[in-house]
Amino acid sequence: MERTFLMLKPDAVQRGLVGKIIAKLEDKGFKLVGLKLIQVDRSLAEAHYAEHKGKGFFEPTVAYIMSSPVVAMVWQGKNVVALARELMGATNPANANPGSIRGQYGMDISRNVIHGSDSVASAEREIALYFKSEELVDYTKAGEDWLSE
Ligand code: CDP
Ligand code: MG
Repeated sequence: MERTFLMLKPDAVQRGLVGKIIAKLEDKGFKLVGLKLIQVDRSLAEAHYAEHKGKGFFEPTVAYIMSSPVVAMVWQGKNVVALARELMGATNPANANPGSIRGQYGMDISRNVIHGSDSVASAEREIALYFKSEELVDYTKAGEDWLSE
């Protein structure tokens, strides 16, 4: 079953949106398999956004995710990488569908509430950056047999 890395960014934690966003992911039917509240340090922040090194928004984005605690999570489900990106909405909340997480809770690209892996390969890389394998929990969730055939 596919897994993705999702992170509730500092603005989501500070604005008290953690429960509301997790509820949307649970409601969709995804399974939470890893979760922790952490303070991201510079080396982790730079590794996370390595693909953007050299761009104008790299340093402000690194500073943003280091600025206050984040909730790091691994979610599992059918097609979860792409579906979580759909639920999150466009990178710039100003352009995001109003029903999406970024569309509902954000208004500016520099404070866009949530991160989600953009591919299965990115998910594997990001999960390994944030979690040790023993921090991910394999379990049967009530109702999961009602989600697909
Ligand atoms: O997060 P996502 O994959 O949707 O977008 P990205 O293009 O990979 O950019 C990573 C993050 O950098 C965004 O989520 C924003 O927090 C930040 N960013 C920004 O502040 N200004 C931009 N012009 C582009 C990205
Ligand atoms: Mg990205």
